[in-house]
Amino acid sequence: MSARILDGKAAAADVAEALRPRIAALLAPEASGGIGRPPGLAVVLVGDDRASAVYVRLKTRRAEDLGMLHRQVTLPASTTEAELLAIIDDLNADPQIDGILIQVPLPRGIDKDRVLDRVHPRKDVDGFHPVNTGRLWQRRPTFIPCTPAGVVELLKRTGVALGGKDAVVIGRSNIVGKPMVALLEQLDCTVTLAHSRTVDLAGVVGRADIVIAAVGVLEMVKGDWIKPGAIVIDVGVNKRDDGRLGGDVEFNGAAKRASWITPVPGGVGPMTIAMLMANTVRAAEQART
Ligand code: GUN
Repeated sequence: MSARILDGKAAAADVAEALRPRIAALLAPEASGGIGRPPGLAVVLVGDDRASAVYVRLKTRRAEDLGMLHRQVTLPASTTEAELLAIIDDLNADPQIDGILIQVPLPRGIDKDRVLDRVHPRKDVDGFHPVNTGRLWQRRPTFIPCTPAGVVELLKRTGVALGGKDAVVIGRSNIVGKPMVALLEQLDCTVTLAHSRTVDLAGVVGRADIVIAAVGVLEMVKGDWIKPGAIVIDVGVNKRDDGRLGGDVEFNGAAKRASWITPVPGGVGPMTIAMLMANTVRAAEQART
């Protein structure tokens, strides 16, 4: 078998296009059911993590392309936690801003949990606040974390009936792995969460109809582990020695066995950004009611 490629760029463009009429409706005056302004997204970048700077630029570019208001707050690594919390308080109170994203990782010395918890749950377009995490697990979500939400969109695009399938998620982060488990359960998959202490990862992967790799280790998932016909979604973005990007899955080997596979780059990455835009539009729509 040779896998079909799940094109994240094309899927992300479709998601973004579907947002345009909703953004246009928001621009209408309040009397006509709008909010009289574009949805507003604030992206906060602290410190000088190079990869984060690239991601933030991609996010603000997409917001710009959709005609959304976007504000980038760039702060030095020397920023104190108190200063950052005060900035978040201002954004929480700002009527132009519907969504707030604090790019992680944050510099050492800043308590990430305290910072992320400060974002008002109604503006938490990353879906990281414990209130939104809890709502997701109770199947009454407001904001779903962008990367796992994007993975779900990609899975749906395969057209494969997902109910009853065995899925494995590799990696237990709050940003990807854990919310991914909740979402796959809601798609009626039987879900295994594998992690660094999993004893027989090859065996666990080999039984899975759906493999979601989110560990951040270059080509850790070997191609010959993949069950023939499986769907393989690679969330990893890792630097090779030559500077090129590579995923968590050995692409060439896995593509020989899988039915569908995402490339890196051009798979999950563009979807994360598209889902952030979707969450921001949703936040603005909820500000209306
Ligand atoms: N860093 C890596 N991925 C993400 C993400 O989805 N949101 C934020 N805020 N930071 C990230």
